[in-house]
Amino acid sequence: MPEEDPSDVLIRLGDRSYNIVIGTGRLHAHSTFGQLPPAQTAVVVTNETVAPLYAQKLVTALQPHYPRVHVVTLPDGEAHKDWQTLNLIFDALLSHCCDRKTVLFALGGGVVGDMTGFAAASYMRGVPFVQVPTTLLAQVDSSVGGKTAINHPLGKNMIGAFYQPQLVVCDLDTLSTLPAREFSAGLAEVIKYGPIADMEFMAWLEENIEALRAGDHAALAHAVRRSCEIKAHVVGVDERESGLRAILNFGHTFGHAIEAGMGYGTWLHGEGVGAGMVMAVELSHRLGLVDGAFVLRLRLLIERAGLPVRGPVIDGQDNAGRYLAWMRGDKKSEAGEIRFVLIDGPGRAVMRSAPDALVREVIDACCA
Ligand code: NAD
Ligand code: GLY
Repeated sequence: MPEEDPSDVLIRLGDRSYNIVIGTGRLHAHSTFGQLPPAQTAVVVTNETVAPLYAQKLVTALQPHYPRVHVVTLPDGEAHKDWQTLNLIFDALLSHCCDRKTVLFALGGGVVGDMTGFAAASYMRGVPFVQVPTTLLAQVDSSVGGKTAINHPLGKNMIGAFYQPQLVVCDLDTLSTLPAREFSAGLAEVIKYGPIADMEFMAWLEENIEALRAGDHAALAHAVRRSCEIKAHVVGVDERESGLRAILNFGHTFGHAIEAGMGYGTWLHGEGVGAGMVMAVELSHRLGLVDGAFVLRLRLLIERAGLPVRGPVIDGQDNAGRYLAWMRGDKKSEAGEIRFVLIDGPGRAVMRSAPDALVREVIDACCA
């Protein structure tokens, strides 16, 4: 077990437990990285946008711990979350003769984090890795819990592995350079924790959404910490999504259809989740699980976060049919039946299927 620091959030997974460090000034403090397994080589994987902002700071913090620190810079964007880009990481690891003790550091958003985690899971059948998330979305969700993946043209995050990091370092200072659109996308994954698990947190978000969007440090620290606490609990109970963990996909079944249907990178992941949550709560309402007032309440919060509350038309001929086709390929589907994460009363999520006709009505009602 890692040493307990009361300011960290601990992911409890037996001998694979690890800490999420949340704070300011963490990325460039060499003490942040003092407890990691010893190795000759560290490899920082980042992208062309994040590298000029933060790579040198991280390299400087790592140098007291590793004789060799290399940087691999990937092209930026969801459209590059694929085999070709993943191979650039393997090319670098092999050309630097990295051994199986080499520690990988994922410096960037969820795209870099998911790809670096997958590379770490498969290079020499598994090397240690550390998540250093620099987007809000990655700090509150993707860096935590060990899901790693790349996309396939036929489906989002379809190729991947469960593989836990050794440490997650959320330096809130990095969020100051994040574009507003990306910040809003991250808020979608923050907001989801309310309706599925914690109505007190949802009420706090309603009070503090403007402060968050203005970059208020205390508000950000609370939002990141509470999100990580909820995710840590869920992952601790159900690491490999055989049950409870599926609730973290609230809004994602519709959202992934939007992302893939529009072409990766056109709609941001968080934007798809924002509009997707509106569709999922509307479906919950039409199934009699939640009242209309709650639908309006959640929709308003999503809108105030700067997120779209209507889905795009991905097919002018048969839009609902195209959404359904994408959603049938979702990882949660069973024998072609789509399994939705729905709201079963405020603060409670449930997995259910729904008649196609009703899903069609929701899509028709909720798309531009
Ligand atoms: P992203 O990684 O594409 O980052 C968004 C943009 O912000 C990119 O252009 C990036 O270069 C830039 N950026 C990153 N940090 C920055 C900073 N500090 N300052 C300025 N620019 C910065 O997108 P994301 O929203 O972080 O992550 C989305 C991805 O995460 C999707 O691929 C999604 O599938 C995945 N995801 C995974 C999980 C999981 O559990 N593994 C959970 C949720 C989402
Ligand atoms: N983001 C969903 C999960 O980690 O399970």
